[in-house]
Amino acid sequence: MARTVAAENSARVLPAMTPARGRPFGIYIHVPFCATRCGYCDFNTYTPGELGGANPDGWLAALRIELAQAAAHLGRIPRVDSVFVGGGTPSLLGGSGLAAVLDAVRAHFPLAPGAEVTTEANPESTSPQLFDQLLAAGYTRVSLGMQSAAAHVLAALDRAHSPGRALAAAREARAAGFDHVNLDLIYGTPGESDDDLLRSVDTVVEAGVDHVSAYALVIEDGTAMARRVRRGELVPTDDDVLARRYELLDARLVGAGFAWYEVSNWSRPGGECQHNIGYWNGGQWWGAGPGAHGFVDSVRWWNVKHPSAYAQTLTDGRLPVADYEHLDAGTLHIEDVMLRVRLRDGLPANVLSAPERERADVAVADGLLSRAGDRLVLTDRGRLLADAVVRDLLD
Ligand SMILES: C[S@@+](CC[C@H](N)C(=O)[O-])C[C@H]1O[C@@H](n2cnc3c(N)ncnc32)[C@H](O)[C@@H]1O
Ligand code: SF4
Repeated sequence: MARTVAAENSARVLPAMTPARGRPFGIYIHVPFCATRCGYCDFNTYTPGELGGANPDGWLAALRIELAQAAAHLGRIPRVDSVFVGGGTPSLLGGSGLAAVLDAVRAHFPLAPGAEVTTEANPESTSPQLFDQLLAAGYTRVSLGMQSAAAHVLAALDRAHSPGRALAAAREARAAGFDHVNLDLIYGTPGESDDDLLRSVDTVVEAGVDHVSAYALVIEDGTAMARRVRRGELVPTDDDVLARRYELLDARLVGAGFAWYEVSNWSRPGGECQHNIGYWNGGQWWGAGPGAHGFVDSVRWWNVKHPSAYAQTLTDGRLPVADYEHLDAGTLHIEDVMLRVRLRDGLPANVLSAPERERADVAVADGLLSRAGDRLVLTDRGRLLADAVVRDLLD
């Protein structure tokens, strides 16, 4: 640990950057704390025993410094269209902690009228009172990690909450006055059946939320789940089953009035997450907090990961940047195609080069892309094969 912190302390100096006008600007804030670690998760988050002296108060003090330095570093201070507090488990900060986070943003950046302000929350660390406090503080959206309505699936994922708690939390958020509530689902957990998944989707619909994210379980190297797979205790779900599950959940959500707007995201009309659309559609953002990534003016950077190194670097008066890169036109184009083709709005054909347009014609002939005016949009079959469609387009 000491070595990591020392090595991480050699922060890089971030190049000068000015946010381009006419593009959305977001602020992402990473809360690196979890009560326990779920076996599948490799996010930059720490349980109490892994913090090595760091704590939420020190993190908040450091975050305030980072946001002040961010405003001083940018060539102009942009109006902020969205704030997203993610983790980790932001709800561990409680209502007053999350209010202080938003106050720290407002102290240095003006929020645009109607700005979307989201926090993630884990069902077991929420209450009706927390949602009241969040609403009063200025949050407009809550994203809850539900994952599944099946108790045995939650157990396989090491989740700390019961299926009923996620549903209750979503209803409490709605009752407090949140119009925008997301539930995250994971599908394809070993041991999950088609019926388990359909029950999860029905629970989401019953909860009255306006947004659902559903991602196939990724078995990440180095996680407890990957070790269980290696030992033969768990069998990963095969791709055909994953494709069937995606079709099942899409059909059930569409039947209930949701529509996809990104391959893994569905909403009721007006419920789309503006912050995430910014990531996918050419937006810029400052990423604050340990391990957070930012992207402004063709520069991408990422912060040091450990909360102790993060706080120490800021206390020493430097931005906690682990490294950065200037994205050249070719790389920006690849990323633009990769992200935008996954959106329901599709990819304007005129951003493609002549050879890419020819390959897009092949994908249209193969039934993977369709044309909507001058845009290329994934078909239902194309959504199942989105990664392959992108690979073929960019070849
Ligand atoms: C990293 S969590 C942070 C928010 C919160 N702590 C939670 O668990 O919901 C954000 C989302 O990423 C999902 N996630 C994390 N690791 C994943 C994996 N290996 N495969 C699929 N989804 C994953 C989580 O389940 C969660 O819905
Ligand atoms: S609660 Fe969320 S961030 Fe924390 S370990 Fe579990 S999935 Fe990862």
